[in-house]
Amino acid sequence: MTAQNDAVSTLSLTRPDDWHLHLRDGDRLAAVLPHTAAQFARAMVMPNLTPPIVTTKAALAYRDRILAALPAHADFQPLMTLYLTEETTPSEIRRARESGAVYGVKLYPAGATTHSEAGVKELSRVYPVLEAMVEQGLPLLLHGEVTDPTVDVFDRERVFIERHLVPLVARFPSLKVVLEHITTREAVAFVREAHPFVAATITPQHLLFDRNALFQGGLRPHHYCLPVLKREVHRRAVLEAAVSGNPKFFLGTDSAPHPRSGKESRCGCAGIYSAHAALELYAEAFDNANALDRLEGFASYAGADFYGLPRNQAKITLERVAWQVPEEFPFGAERLLPLRAGERMLWRLRANSPSA
Ligand code: NCD
Ligand code: ZN
Repeated sequence: MTAQNDAVSTLSLTRPDDWHLHLRDGDRLAAVLPHTAAQFARAMVMPNLTPPIVTTKAALAYRDRILAALPAHADFQPLMTLYLTEETTPSEIRRARESGAVYGVKLYPAGATTHSEAGVKELSRVYPVLEAMVEQGLPLLLHGEVTDPTVDVFDRERVFIERHLVPLVARFPSLKVVLEHITTREAVAFVREAHPFVAATITPQHLLFDRNALFQGGLRPHHYCLPVLKREVHRRAVLEAAVSGNPKFFLGTDSAPHPRSGKESRCGCAGIYSAHAALELYAEAFDNANALDRLEGFASYAGADFYGLPRNQAKITLERVAWQVPEEFPFGAERLLPLRAGERMLWRLRANSPSA
């Protein structure tokens, strides 16, 4: 840590938003929602439940369940998404827009990740729906990985960009596209060079870890997510993008809770839980890069601006105070192991901080 960094001990930020979040449902939703609501004013809620949220009606019902699960006095707004399938109709897109509660449509290539079985197999089949999204001004949120089993797992994002995203963006130049949870230097370059309607979210884990974290002293299932962690050269490229001040890159945790038993298993689930300490993790990554002054743009402005939503007014305060992350949290009838479980964090969000 540099002398310059040591001088900074508190940081006041406009309240941030999480532009990519998995909240689950039922008692699991109730277990994780308070963490996000304590940190973020809004979150783009992913629709990969079982069954997936494929209609506006289901999105509104899910939104009601989230609002009902909020702690008293929480100041948090869920922004809903639809799960795109080959059966989604243009009229469903219009309904989604008219509801005022749906802010994006998520495309999972079928089989790419957790609960993506109902996703899209052939992109051309959803072209009419993408047209409707252009008309309605609803952004497309992409899980950008090919599912072709012959493509190496570490190359699936790069190949998706080459095979599918370059042609898609050329065909729909007026479609707003968010390439979610980017992990590679190729994704950074693509987003940077694409037209202004193309943006990307970045997770804390892809800023803080390279793929060695998956094998540190043994197999580390709690560092496994999709897209999988990549080589150090990619982590550096993603970090540079995050701290660059370029508003095409903004915060999306991809916090994805799974029960401990599901992660520590013969075939462990993909997903890292970071909602308990999301901002603190980002602060650490930005601090390491001597770029704390860029955190507010990344966390609190760029995403809202991209989606055409007002920036938040409230302020939060981060302070350089060490604390220890709990070993686990309750998760319905199960347990949830968070990122950095039992480890020390260097930054802490001041509880219920009004303005600094
Ligand atoms: C996510 C989940 O568990 O829902 N998992 C993950 O590893 N990121 C799904 C996803 O966003 O890919
Ligand atoms: Zn996700």
